Amino acid sequence: MLVRQIAVGTMQNFVYLLADRPGGVGLVVDSGWEIDPVIKAAKEAGVTVRFAVATHRHSDHTSSLRELADSLGAKVVAHRRSPIDHDVSVDDGDVLSLGEAEVKVIYTPGHTEDSICLYDGEDLFTGDTLFIGNCGRTDLPGGSQKELFGSLHDVILKLPPSTVVYPGHDYGDVPFRRLGEEALSNPVLSARDYDEFLGVP
Ligand SMILES: [Fe+2]
Repeated sequence: MLVRQIAVGTMQNFVYLLADRPGGVGLVVDSGWEIDPVIKAAKEAGVTVRFAVATHRHSDHTSSLRELADSLGAKVVAHRRSPIDHDVSVDDGDVLSLGEAEVKVIYTPGHTEDSICLYDGEDLFTGDTLFIGNCGRTDLPGGSQKELFGSLHDVILKLPPSTVVYPGHDYGDVPFRRLGEEALSNPVLSARDYDEFLGVP
């Protein structure tokens, strides 16, 4: 899988370009601040972008998603509970086909009610559900600490330790890390139970 991690805007956002191969078929994960770096990356890799996917509703991830999708001839994809304007509604277990590759939608509520992660079998694109070193906040509308704990511990931590975590913001000491290492060093993942999770600053 081709993966390009692209830093955009003033809030340390990461957007992503994925494709089955260079010159192949791909998708974009989020778009909040600038679309030009993403369009440039797609052009340089010769990728035909089929989908522009929102990891969740927040504007730093979605405000330019329609403009980016239209520029690339792509469809906007979001979870079925997302209030944003989108063409394709997805839910847990749905698959987006990219030529020779498939990207699976994993529903991970908690940061918002419409939060999803994307999983290609090796890489996990986590939006604001999981950062390197922490997780997303739950005090905004649609947030739930209980749901986020479940998404992190009952869903994400069930994936193989070799999975590479690609977050929606550059908040960590590294821009991405394998899940097995992150599970040991990130207190929201290493918390032994819900009470300990609630105590993480
Ligand atoms: Fe967010």
